[in-house]
Amino acid sequence: MSALRSRVIMTSLLPALVYASAAVFLVGMGWRLAAWLRAPVPLNIVLTPGPATAAGVARRLGGEALLFRSLFGADRWLWVAAWVFHISLVLLAVGHVAGLVVPELARASLGLTEDQFHQLAEVTGGVFGVLAVVPLLCLLLRRLTMERLRYISTFSDYFALALLLLVIATGDQMRFMGALDLARARQFVSGLLSFHPVAPPSDTAFVAHLLLVCALLAYIPFSKLVHLGGLLLSPTLNQRNNAREHRHVGPWDRLQAGGSPISSQGPRA
Ligand code: HEM
Repeated sequence: MSALRSRVIMTSLLPALVYASAAVFLVGMGWRLAAWLRAPVPLNIVLTPGPATAAGVARRLGGEALLFRSLFGADRWLWVAAWVFHISLVLLAVGHVAGLVVPELARASLGLTEDQFHQLAEVTGGVFGVLAVVPLLCLLLRRLTMERLRYISTFSDYFALALLLLVIATGDQMRFMGALDLARARQFVSGLLSFHPVAPPSDTAFVAHLLLVCALLAYIPFSKLVHLGGLLLSPTLNQRNNAREHRHVGPWDRLQAGGSPISSQGPRA
């Protein structure tokens, strides 16, 4: 392939792919969330012991989202793997924004020199890059070795794990073994964000990392990974335990004379 042709592919096709996968992710997530929000909730099905106040519901949802409280009670080892994995992902996301999107702002607000900032990125990127991969391997091993779990596992369970593993492995490859031109990577990211794409660094691991992230983004809304947006909309968790104080009226309770349900869903107390 001529140098010109590969340059065209890198400056137009790769950014186009990133935009397309981001659009699929945003539209797909919006569509899934809208479907959940539109679904009638005719009954109070809160999991007991449930909170009676709005502040209690917020505390319950916060505990589930940040500490995975139900999982902690159900399976301690699975909780360790899931929590370490998710926390590492969040901290890696913070690291990506600080290191690639706003490096100057991040460095100045931490009061660090260029060198210190670089060292901090090396340590935190290295630690959380490893901490993200270990629980994923444990989850895969668990799925492969527990007969009961293997029996109910489908292709999509393995595919999601494999995609996440590959994204993190290519990131770790750049962190531990690569010779990435970080300045070019930053220019590429700001080009993407300002809709004036430039060529990415000529680094195979970087391009592979990005292509895998695109695949992951486009896959999330259509897979079980969509749970990242669904937790807060779960009626068993976001309802108040107030069935004795409030009558919950669903569309089926208020049939019109003609037999069709009244469209409004009644109070979601
Ligand atoms: C699902 C999203 C992503 C995940 C899970 C992920 C994961 C990782 C991991 C685990 C590392 C190694 C640890 C570290 O250096 O922070 C890494 C490094 C890296 N990632 Fe990502 N990444 C994601 C998205 C992206 C995106 C969208 C870009 C850029 C467009 C990107 C660019 C990089 C670069 C340049 C490095 C190497 C940093 C360095 O060595 O200084 N990543 N990624």
